[in-house]
Amino acid sequence: MSELNNIALKIIGKGKGILAADESTGTMTKRLESVNVPSTPKNRLVFREALFSSTSMADCIGGVILYDETIKQISSKKNKITELISEMGSLPGIKVDTGAKVLAGSPDEKITEGLDGLRERLKEYYKIGAKFTKWRGVYNITKEFPSKLAISSNAHALARYSALVQECNMVPIVEPEVLMDGEHSAKDCYEKTSNVIEKCFEELIFHKVDLKGIILKPNMILAGNMSKNKISNNEVAKLTLKCLKNCVPTEVPGIAFLSGGQSELEATENLNLINKYNDTNFIMSYSYGRALQQSALKFWSKDIKNIKGTQKIFNHRAKMNTLAAQGNWSKDLEI
Ligand code: 13P
Repeated sequence: MSELNNIALKIIGKGKGILAADESTGTMTKRLESVNVPSTPKNRLVFREALFSSTSMADCIGGVILYDETIKQISSKKNKITELISEMGSLPGIKVDTGAKVLAGSPDEKITEGLDGLRERLKEYYKIGAKFTKWRGVYNITKEFPSKLAISSNAHALARYSALVQECNMVPIVEPEVLMDGEHSAKDCYEKTSNVIEKCFEELIFHKVDLKGIILKPNMILAGNMSKNKISNNEVAKLTLKCLKNCVPTEVPGIAFLSGGQSELEATENLNLINKYNDTNFIMSYSYGRALQQSALKFWSKDIKNIKGTQKIFNHRAKMNTLAAQGNWSKDLEI
């Protein structure tokens, strides 16, 4: 087994999943201000450190995606954040794209930037202790979008990123996120997500990326959040599996879904059904941001000194998702 494949399996094998705690300072500020906590570097660290030192890190969370600010911070116990995460039994990772910008040629769409100087930044992150990385391409659905231009330029960037990351002995998380915003149907989401994922793999193969050493982080197949024709959770699971079965080469060890604006319960329930019906060899796990943190953040914001209480809520969500990643979750386990 290759070293990269080994790392990928450590992150999402045995029901483990990923905590996406890589919100940019701008996004984290919005999240903190929504619960009336001032967004200072210290507060951002206090909340994140509470999660990173939770007991579920050993049993449920195989990897944590960090943001540049966090990976360079020092914990309250005076160790590096990457050391804290490793000591808790998980692997540290880092978001390396520099964000989605207006796509020249199709200004209502986005292209993710960050390739310039990436090789040097990767070396630095590797030295600090990162074992894997993340890059997110983002696509919106309308009648004409995502355009061919957005699909191919983002796939190209994801592939160049992945090749550079593997050159530096880290596992790239390849995240093409087709957004759930809009009135589109689940069928539209299915078709457009399929086009996006197929193009990504065409480019990954062209750039000689070792598919055994990546993790795909896609959206589930959902009707748009403003669609009048919502589909059942069973249909979400079945369409999601069908899409991935058709579009993802079998060498890929695993898939870790983003939550993308689903509620905590929805994200858990859909993941559970995907695993119940999973007739592929892919590991189907989670790489959730909001769906792992929302309740914990809300609780913490009311008393930022109550670390134990915050951890209890986070541990529960992590455990529920780890059960779902094995198809063993049921609603009566929720508190
Ligand atoms: P959500 O699970 O909140 O969508 O975040 C996952 C992520 O990392 C988005 O890039």
